[in-house]
Amino acid sequence: MLSRLPFIPQQASTVAADVDGLFFFLVAVSTFFALLIAVMVVYFAIRYRRRSASDRPHAIEGALGLELLWTIIPFGLAMVMFFWSANVYTRLERPPDNAMQVFVVGKQWMWKVQHMEGVREINALHVPVGRPVKLTMTSEDVIHSFYVPAFRIKQDVLPGRYTTAWFQATQAGTYHLFCAEYCGTMHSGMIGWVTVMEPADYEAWLSGGKTGAQSLASAGEQLFQQLGCVTCHRDDGQGRGPSLVHLPGKTVKLQDGQTVVADDAYLRESILSSQAKIVAGYQPIMPTFKGLVSEEGLLQLIAYIKTLGGPEGGGGATTASATTSTEGH
Ligand code: CUA
Repeated sequence: MLSRLPFIPQQASTVAADVDGLFFFLVAVSTFFALLIAVMVVYFAIRYRRRSASDRPHAIEGALGLELLWTIIPFGLAMVMFFWSANVYTRLERPPDNAMQVFVVGKQWMWKVQHMEGVREINALHVPVGRPVKLTMTSEDVIHSFYVPAFRIKQDVLPGRYTTAWFQATQAGTYHLFCAEYCGTMHSGMIGWVTVMEPADYEAWLSGGKTGAQSLASAGEQLFQQLGCVTCHRDDGQGRGPSLVHLPGKTVKLQDGQTVVADDAYLRESILSSQAKIVAGYQPIMPTFKGLVSEEGLLQLIAYIKTLGGPEGGGGATTASATTSTEGH
């Protein structure tokens, strides 16, 4: 119903109605109190105006009931806002485990999208309806922001780290994709379309685009050979570098005694700033690959490493991707 109001974008994701409900609640509370205060200011200014030069007001001794009333009501309202917002926020921040992965690289001035199956698109994103989609995003240059109003998602896309966003589309259709962070001359042109398709149509689209396309992981495997990673990171653990089998999601012991979880950010840092974190028991001999691998190449390498399996005994490959753990490069 709310989506029929002017200026309100269509609700096309599972969280859209919740975000709108919260938004209208906040607007309603703010409007109510703004009007209440404005009316009281005018009313009291007239009611208690100075009527003559000798006019003296009565002394006021305080009113406990009133004090309690205007303390408890706002406190209650603030708590409702807090828990309601926290609930919506955590839903927005936590992609479901069964979400399909899509990778996004922002650059001046376009959105580059890679699917796990290897299909690539520019300024377009095709997804099936009714399936959670997790976006892992990074930027080649400056800060951009991935914004799809109909899904009520907006996430900054930062150079040098991975951020994530997720949505589950509820209706087939095409929806505007914007860049919502001023990023240079052509910022306003950094737009595109998200196409939500029925699952069968999506499969057809995917296989149509796949001809000749290599899956992300196999492109990563090829890079792994080309860059020579394979000579040290041998599967049998006998190489000069640690084996990467069962690495993603594992807790890694470092030389300085600290531990780190091998998430996307850790894998990325280990490729680009190989000296930043040295695995216990190994020498700091790995060269840096900064400038040698593109952001898309990094995503391919990470996708390949994930095919080597998650931590042993811990189920499948985890896709933990920290958004905040890449400080200190
Ligand atoms: Cu990219 Cu604005």
